[in-house]
Amino acid sequence: MCFCWFVCVCVCVNMFIQSHYGDDWDIYSFHINSTVSSRYATTVITSRVANRMDESKEIEFQVRIPKNAFISKFRMFIDGQAYDGVVKSKEAAKQQYTDAVSQGQSAGIVSSVGRTLEEFKTSVNVAAHKKVTFELTYEELLKRKLGKYELSLIFVQPIAPNGFLMVFDIYSGLFLSLSRVNKSEFCCYQAWVYFYPTEDQQKTCDRCGEQGMNGDLVIVYDVNRDNSFGDIKKSSGYFVHHFAPSNLARIPKNVAFVIDQSSSMHGRKIQQTRTALIRILNDLAEEDHFGLITFDSSIFHWKRELVQATEENLASAKTFALQIQDRGATDINQAVLEGARMLNANPREGSASILILLTDGDPTSGVTNLEVIQSNVRKAIAGEFPLYCLGFGFDVNFEFLEKMSLQNNGVARRIYEDSDAELQLKGFYEEVATPLLTDVTMVYEGGINLTQTNFSQYYNGSEIVVAGQITDNDIRTFTPQVVFPGTNVTVESADVADSNIQRVWAYLTVKQLLEKELRLSGPEKESAKKEALELSLKYSFVTPLTSMVVTKPPGESSDVLHKPKEGEAPQTPTSNARQYGLMPTVSDILWLSGRVSHLSTGRSGGQSPAPAVKFQSVLGQDT
Ligand SMILES: *[C@@H]1O[C@H](CO)[C@@H](O)[C@H](O)[C@H]1NC(C)=O
Ligand SMILES: *[C@@H]1O[C@H](CO)[C@@H](O)[C@H](O)[C@H]1NC(C)=O
Ligand SMILES: *[C@@H]1O[C@H](CO)[C@@H](O)[C@H](O)[C@H]1NC(C)=O
Ligand SMILES: *[C@@H]1O[C@H](CO)[C@@H](O)[C@H](O)[C@H]1NC(C)=O
Ligand SMILES: *[C@@H]1O[C@H](CO)[C@@H](O)[C@H](O)[C@H]1NC(C)=O
Ligand SMILES: *[C@@H]1O[C@H](CO)[C@@H](O)[C@H](O)[C@H]1NC(C)=O
Repeated sequence: MCFCWFVCVCVCVNMFIQSHYGDDWDIYSFHINSTVSSRYATTVITSRVANRMDESKEIEFQVRIPKNAFISKFRMFIDGQAYDGVVKSKEAAKQQYTDAVSQGQSAGIVSSVGRTLEEFKTSVNVAAHKKVTFELTYEELLKRKLGKYELSLIFVQPIAPNGFLMVFDIYSGLFLSLSRVNKSEFCCYQAWVYFYPTEDQQKTCDRCGEQGMNGDLVIVYDVNRDNSFGDIKKSSGYFVHHFAPSNLARIPKNVAFVIDQSSSMHGRKIQQTRTALIRILNDLAEEDHFGLITFDSSIFHWKRELVQATEENLASAKTFALQIQDRGATDINQAVLEGARMLNANPREGSASILILLTDGDPTSGVTNLEVIQSNVRKAIAGEFPLYCLGFGFDVNFEFLEKMSLQNNGVARRIYEDSDAELQLKGFYEEVATPLLTDVTMVYEGGINLTQTNFSQYYNGSEIVVAGQITDNDIRTFTPQVVFPGTNVTVESADVADSNIQRVWAYLTVKQLLEKELRLSGPEKESAKKEALELSLKYSFVTPLTSMVVTKPPGESSDVLHKPKEGEAPQTPTSNARQYGLMPTVSDILWLSGRVSHLSTGRSGGQSPAPAVKFQSVLGQDT
């Protein structure tokens, strides 16, 4: 038997930019190198810039990174000297920031831009005819959604004011090769993606406007899984367990939709909600049960109890959905409690219950004290099913929704007010549309410092990831088990040489401690915060609790880089319009998506299926 089915996707993107900013400065090379193993992506962005002027010049480095990522390293090389950013606690960094500001210097920022991105920005003074190299590293655990992982590499590169063009041409610009490595070693397979648009290619492009083009390279992939109980890799005393079975029968669900129809939903928002709801109703399976409640300062039932998704019931529910009108205030408390009551009144054996709240505002009617609402909701749900909160737009108190979801085994998602809001709503629903398991518990005898091990529901297309340490690194006593109603299986584990496994553990632990800090109160909150801070410092992660202090050559003040708060309204980056020409809006971004599907993992003895690698271009048509 072979347990080496470690798949490693190394994506290496290099882009050479020949751009000219008058005679000011030149980005003469720009590279993005991203390596993924164990679903953990480490991306290094390197930008080399030369000052062409006869005098010293302030040179800026500005990039966008995914919100889920933690920056872990930043350095600048000037004149043979390296300047490293240092991760400190937010308080310590703030002190440095205050000192810098009192000296009349500005501080760098990381700000929230668009839906999924943050912008990192810093600058440095470079002497006449000297060069500077900026190098930024960030790390993230890729989350499986709807059956795929997505790695986005974002090229928000400076565009010359006179219109610098790039084109991503998959035929001539992209080379792909798969090389097979000894499977008892680090990797069974590696996928390399090189992306080198030439200067010419960067200048000719159908959709490039006067202002040139920015874009993303999105690598979409999934991995082969031989064992339905998951794949456990261990390395240097740490382990990570990926569990994503898909060969199970779906279980029926009971879903209650609680929809805000307060007057703030007026116009496009209520229209999009109606459309999304109708599409979601169309997708319910006949064995599902559902309920529909709308609310403003009162609540309105389509039916008092959950009913089966028969054709007749769906037709009637759609008629109800079409007639949803905006009016009145927002009584979240009463509405969520009623949704919970309906689900509790229909506890069907062998099914999964789900409560979905959609709101665009704060509670303004009935109980409005946030803590009282949270406590009422927690009591009403009593851990029986997850609550998913969808916050529509930026007038919601997202932290309140997030806390309420986390307290009830769910997650909160922001729905951005935009033309595609109905797709966002539908997309979220699809992620939870096919429950395959309930009450999954991972048990690791001989394991400590485990990340979350209990999962109330598992949905098709998603993945459960648990990481931990092996007690005294003694693999003889290490016994992982997957337990869910009717099943208790011991899972084998495989040794790999992958230093990412420890970082996966650190990343997941910090993310979950930050959630715990939000969810809890009192001493437990403080202890989660303290632990999260310690780990962030140890692994050099820029999290909401830490900041990075970027030291610069003598005579210049430090920059302090903070991670923006989750749910902070995105800023429109206009401040750099002068240096960078026009910044594209999110909708201008060109997507070039590559799909590396089903990498073969080379089982021992057997014939390895040829790794199927396809690339898909969203530039025009699929290839
Ligand atoms: C990208 O990073 C990997 C891992 O650090 C390294 O092995 C590889 O040489 C790098 N590729 C380039 C083109 O720099
Ligand atoms: C693969 O690794 C095994 C065990 O380390 C070794 O015995 C074998 O010679 C290697 N094969 C190749 C082709 O390198
Ligand atoms: C789960 O998803 C896989 C593909 O991602 C599909 O083949 C399978 O049929 C799905 N299972 C159910 C129960 O829908
Ligand atoms: C891991 O667990 C051990 C034993 O409970 C504890 O002493 C140690 O501090 C933990 N390490 C981390 C990084 O949490
Ligand atoms: C996890 O599930 C197990 C078994 O159902 C239970 O004994 C344990 O208390 C749960 N732990 C948490 C933290 O919920
Ligand atoms: C799973 O089964 C084994 C053997 O039947 C038993 O020793 C173990 O306690 C069970 N684990 C759980 C979590 O129920």
